[in-house]
Order: sequence, then C-alpha cells, then structure tokens
Amino acid sequence: MLVLGIETSCDETAAAVVADAASIQSNVIASQEDLHRMYGGVVPELASRRHLERILPVVDLALEQAGVRWSDLGGIAVTRGPGLLGALAVGVAAAKSFAYVHRLPLVGVNHLEAHLFANVLDRGPLPVPSLALIVSGAHTDLVMIEGHHRYAMLGRTRDDAAGEAFDKVARAMGLGYPGGPALDRLGRTGDASAVPLPVPFPGGGLDFSFSGVKTAALRALAAEPSPSPSFIAGLAASLQRVVAEALATKTARAAREHRPRALLLAGGVAANSVLRARLEDESGRLGIPLLVPRMELCTDNAAMVAACGASRLARGERDSWDLSAAADLPLAG
Ligand code: KG4
Ligand code: ZN
Repeated sequence: MLVLGIETSCDETAAAVVADAASIQSNVIASQEDLHRMYGGVVPELASRRHLERILPVVDLALEQAGVRWSDLGGIAVTRGPGLLGALAVGVAAAKSFAYVHRLPLVGVNHLEAHLFANVLDRGPLPVPSLALIVSGAHTDLVMIEGHHRYAMLGRTRDDAAGEAFDKVARAMGLGYPGGPALDRLGRTGDASAVPLPVPFPGGGLDFSFSGVKTAALRALAAEPSPSPSFIAGLAASLQRVVAEALATKTARAAREHRPRALLLAGGVAANSVLRARLEDESGRLGIPLLVPRMELCTDNAAMVAACGASRLARGERDSWDLSAAADLPLAG
C-alpha cells in the first residue's frame, strides 16, 4: 500500500510517499531554516504562514517524484502532535482536505512515534520489546516499545531537551540556528576535556536534566572575553561529551533492567556523532544491537510519518473529519 505522509510540526514542511510501510518512494523537505535563523530560533507564527505557502507544492512534488497519482494511494498520514499548534494545524487541515477530496482513509500520527518509525524505513518492523531514546529539539524521552504501537515512558527530561541545550549554547557561541549540527562539526576538532563541565543529573532515576549543564557552558563561555577558536572547539567537544555521557549511562541502566531485544536511537539529535559513538560502546558492552536511522531520516521528515501511519492504517485504524492538532500529544502515559 502507498501512503502519503505530511509533516508540519515545527519548521520543516515535508511530504513523502512510502510503500508497504518501509520503502521510501519520495521524501520532500522544505526547510524554513533561512526564515528563522535571524531570530536564533523558530518563530511559531512565521512557521505557520510558511507552511501554508509551501504545503501544496511540497505535496505535489512528493507525488511527482514518487511517480504516483492520488488514485494510486491507499491512505494519508499526518503529524497531529506534539509540536507548534498553528504549524500542526496547517498539515492536519491539508491532510483532511486531500483525504476528503480523494476519498482516502486518514490517520493522525504522533510525531515522537514517527521518529521511532524512522528506524523501520529501509529495515522492516521494530523488534519488540525495544528500548528507545528519543532526543530532539523539544524532547528527551526514554521509552519502552512493549508491543506494536504500545509504549511505556521510563524517563524524560525535567527541563530542557538535549537538542534545546545544544541549540542555546551554540547560539551564544555564534554558530547560528539550529546549532546542533554546527556543534557536532566543530567539536571534532576540539579537546573534549578542555572545559570541565559536570555530567548532568546523575540522580533522578531515569529522568534527565540539561538546564544545569547548559548554564555551566554559557558561564564558561561568558568568562572568556575573546574566546579563541580552540576554546570554542573545546567547549563544543566538552558539552557533547557530557550530554552524550548522561544519555548513554541512563539508557544502559534502563537496558540492564529491562533487557530489550534492541536499542533504538531517534530524533534530530540522533544525528550527533558523539552520541552515536557513545551508544555504540554501550550496545557492544550490553550485547544488545543499536539501531540508528540513516542520517537524513533522523531530523524531521514525512517518510517516518508515512511509515508510522501505514502501520496504523494496516491495522484498520482511521481518523474521522474531527481530527485536530494537539500541541502536547503524549506518546504514552
Ligand atoms: O527531531 P528534530 O528535527 O526536530 C524536533 O522534533 O525537535 O530535532 C531538531 C534538533 C535540533 O535541536 C538540532 O540542533 C538537533 O536536532 N540536531 C543535532 C544534530 N543534528 C540535528 N544535534 C546535535 N548534533 C547533530 N548532528
Ligand atoms: Zn522531530
């Protein structure tokens, strides 16, 4: 079955066509980075307006690149939350209109679950039970995948998400928005023990906290009136080292308790090379395989939304015309 996915939860207007829940036929992403860069972060109202301008051409292009017509599709999947309410509403309204006009089944998808399904693309069904670490600009969650579309939340951040901490420190370092990728590149040339930062929040069970280490990094930066390139690179490397350490340590602890069949890394920060390497170490020590999506499927895209929706549609799930956007939609209780 061919499914069209639509994603507008934050600052990417995206549409994709996926076959049989796993094979990508097209994956179009119109990024708004240029629009938000001068503000140092996403401006919600501007994001919604840009989605409105782009959604139709992006969907047309996704169909064209996949070489399919509306009548070839078996359904439409759309991100309904969590995310920016106005931005989500554009995708949901578009998906409902398309589904109505073309008489296609419609399903609303949780954005965090869609990130997990980035691991299904090119690969096939998720091993169950699995332990997933979802790390994005807005979320840092440790989740047990207990069955198909059944999740249990083991831990979450109590304040900033890991990506948010990276973005805020990167912005103060003058690296622009979003800062995570720039921090990753810069850190490769730096000494990861150059700036003594604490490993964040060792207590708190399986919860995380990144606001303390963010403040410590900002203070270290402020204490250097004219920071040298080697200091900046050292700060980038040091921050990533301690954030990856906190994430990997708690993921490993949860894995020892729950003995999953696989570890899954998902969300935009899954693209981070330090975190990927650190989790590879833990995976080797635990003897539990680590699944990480292809780089371009880590950050927001609609192929993961289509894959997730296709799996739900195949189980007979359908949403009705009263489907609405939900900014705080939880993945699990
Ligand atoms: O999942 P995503 O695309 O959007 C949300 O749902 O939030 O994640 C975006 C986040 C941003 O904070 C961005 O800086 C971070 O992912 N990110 C990275 C890297 N690539 C993206 N952080 C660290 N290293 C990277 N290579
Ligand atoms: Zn995301």
